[in-house]
Amino acid sequence: MCGIVGYIGQRDCTDVLMDGLEKLEYRGYDSAGIAVFEKTGIKTVKTKGKLKDMRQKLETEGSPVGHCGIGHTRWATHGEPSDQNSHPHSNGRVTIVHNGIIENYIELKEFLTEKGYVFHSQTDSEVVACLLDYYYSERNPLRAIMETVKELQGSYALGIMFKDFPDRVYATRKESPLIVGIGENEYFIASDIPAFLKYTKKYALLEDDDIVCMTNDDIEFYDVHGLPEQKEISVAEWDVEQAQKCGYPHFMLKEIHEQPEIVQKTLESCCKNGEPSFEDIGLTDDMLRDVKRVFVVACGTAMHAGIIARYAIEQLARVPVTVEVASEFRYMDPIVGEGDLVIVVSQSGETADTKAGLELAKQKGAKTLAVVNVKYSAIARQADMFIHTLAGPEIAVASTKAYTAQISVLYLLAFRFAFARGTIDRERMNQLTAQLLTAPKAIQDVIDHKQDCQYIASKLINTDTLFFIGRSFDYALSLEGSLKLKEISYIHSEAYAAGELKHGTISLIEPGIPVITVATQSAVLAKTISNMEEVKARGGVIIAVCRKGTVFAADSVDMKLEIDTDLDDILVPLPTVCALQLIAYYTSVLRGIDPDKPRNLAKSVTTE
Ligand code: F6R
Repeated sequence: MCGIVGYIGQRDCTDVLMDGLEKLEYRGYDSAGIAVFEKTGIKTVKTKGKLKDMRQKLETEGSPVGHCGIGHTRWATHGEPSDQNSHPHSNGRVTIVHNGIIENYIELKEFLTEKGYVFHSQTDSEVVACLLDYYYSERNPLRAIMETVKELQGSYALGIMFKDFPDRVYATRKESPLIVGIGENEYFIASDIPAFLKYTKKYALLEDDDIVCMTNDDIEFYDVHGLPEQKEISVAEWDVEQAQKCGYPHFMLKEIHEQPEIVQKTLESCCKNGEPSFEDIGLTDDMLRDVKRVFVVACGTAMHAGIIARYAIEQLARVPVTVEVASEFRYMDPIVGEGDLVIVVSQSGETADTKAGLELAKQKGAKTLAVVNVKYSAIARQADMFIHTLAGPEIAVASTKAYTAQISVLYLLAFRFAFARGTIDRERMNQLTAQLLTAPKAIQDVIDHKQDCQYIASKLINTDTLFFIGRSFDYALSLEGSLKLKEISYIHSEAYAAGELKHGTISLIEPGIPVITVATQSAVLAKTISNMEEVKARGGVIIAVCRKGTVFAADSVDMKLEIDTDLDDILVPLPTVCALQLIAYYTSVLRGIDPDKPRNLAKSVTTE
């Protein structure tokens, strides 16, 4: 949600900013803008729409020429997407870009209006520019920023320029991501590393209310009291290719194809001598033995990974697991505390609700474990323990490779849990682990047969509504398959536990409605088949996603997508979800939609 970039150095600033904003497009946005110091002052160009609209505007209005500036992609929260509401915002002597939400902006706006400030937009962000101007005196930007952030309630990442200092970019943040890139005599700020990866891999992280001042040849960090600080410089493990399409038509397809390698890498990073090992992150067998209950707290696809974890941990380790949507968990006054393990799962590590869930769990005395893909993210840093999924940058809005990496880690955790609690022996743990390590091959096999998914997609493109049903792990997969399909194809889709359909929803089944039945779990296969028959009897079109060789009664299935694997039932979700991802991808593409940037969605949801 919203992307920020800032630059100071010798390069053409407009190029660097536009290039950086392009790399942040995945976050979702509806307007864009840049402000660059020119010889005669700051020039701002901004527009509603996409970066192609921005490029057009730059052509007609002339690109700003300079070496120091800030840029922004906005995902509207306060005020519709419009030229006026786009960032950067300037008021008085200050120009800013802002990501986050200023919760007390109405009070601040009233106060500033009384002081004579006139507002030009409907945004909460513009109050920050005014407040900075209000506190700016004696040519002291640092003091103005310190005084301003004291007044702000909510979340913010800010890139700031003061008219009097043409050679400086300031930045600060609280609860919204902002990374500082450190090159050779050039510096960057960005919401995410891919925005400057092309120029430098070195970066530094800002804590809440830290301030950074970047000049042509120096960078200075200050803490919340304005005292100079030394920052640790880290080197990004991601490379430029990972943040590029590399010949694939879409990031989503590329990311689906990366899954075998990513799953392999992630699994290997959590194993020692062929067995799952979490001692390095401080998660010992003694701790696992003492856990009374497990909570998985997450949103969207990450929450669906939690449902897989629930089935796996409960079946193997016999510990009760509750999966909670983070936006509910944080406000439900959950009964959670000492003795509980709260696992937060997040690709971005910045999702506002998941982060709040984590903070709440910590406050209540639970042990917290983060399974996160972005190691420098807030969630990864705040949790007691952190497992890094090695999916690399996930650019497509719809999560694919991060999900498979998450469930890979959660499987290993389930195995170790079960071993630590004595519900399986070492031999079984290692046997399951060895099997899991063959899952990349099974995923590859699905990818190699992607034309089968494309064929199924071609049969879905004209439908208005469809259903996914399944039981046990297949239910968890149905939820994920349905979310993936609806978010990028805009076809209404619902997922149901197969046995639940007849408790109401079956009334929606009419002749011709497709029902994707996920049927990979042998323990409940007969039951799932009965539910499928109930749908078929009402004219539904059955698309069965099942193991190779599954036998159905004649004419009960209209289309079949077979997963060819001898993985244990518990592990079949890994290749199966890949098939569901491919069905969603091709349905989206065949309907003429860009699957990488579905409407209304943002990649990193940093607001509630
Ligand atoms: C769906 C999707 C979202 C995210 C959700 C949580 O394809 O990507 O549902 O899973 O917004 O995001 P993270 O994992 O970054 O916390």
